[in-house]
Amino acid sequence: MAEQLIIGGGTKQERYEALLPQIESVVEDEKDLIANMANVAAMLHETFGFWWTGFYRVDGDELVLGPFQGPMACTRIRKGRGVCGTAWAEAATQVVPDVELFPGHIACSSASRSEIVVPVFREGQVIAVLDIDSDRLSTFDETDRHYLEQITFILANACSFKKTS
Ligand code: SME
Repeated sequence: MAEQLIIGGGTKQERYEALLPQIESVVEDEKDLIANMANVAAMLHETFGFWWTGFYRVDGDELVLGPFQGPMACTRIRKGRGVCGTAWAEAATQVVPDVELFPGHIACSSASRSEIVVPVFREGQVIAVLDIDSDRLSTFDETDRHYLEQITFILANACSFKKTS
């Protein structure tokens, strides 16, 4: 496994393109989902300098905080609540340009201004969400959705079923 992250060139797309093979390389060597979530969060956070980057895992009828980078955060979120709970309930990525305009947004940090939440699917079920917060408005767009959905797919499919629940 590579020990040093190589951060790609100027554009967002170039950075994701450089990041994808490095994530593939890291997760293909390790079957434990939590360990891989930890490295994916770290790699995304370091590449883009987001405010908060991390995972919430499905635990019964709630999401529970998983590996993350950034300030401390809420530990449990009910299905359908906030941006994370909505992404889980709707099994769909949520791109939020201004968190203050999202009904029910959960403000773990007052510095968060925009957010993207991407479900992690296994066998058609949401098993976790990837949540990224920015301290600026309108940080996330269709490019982020495209690459982050690829990253969650790579993550979920690299890990064995037995070690996730
Ligand atoms: N803002 C999220 C809660 C998680 S924190 O951003 C880390 C939400 O509304 O679900």
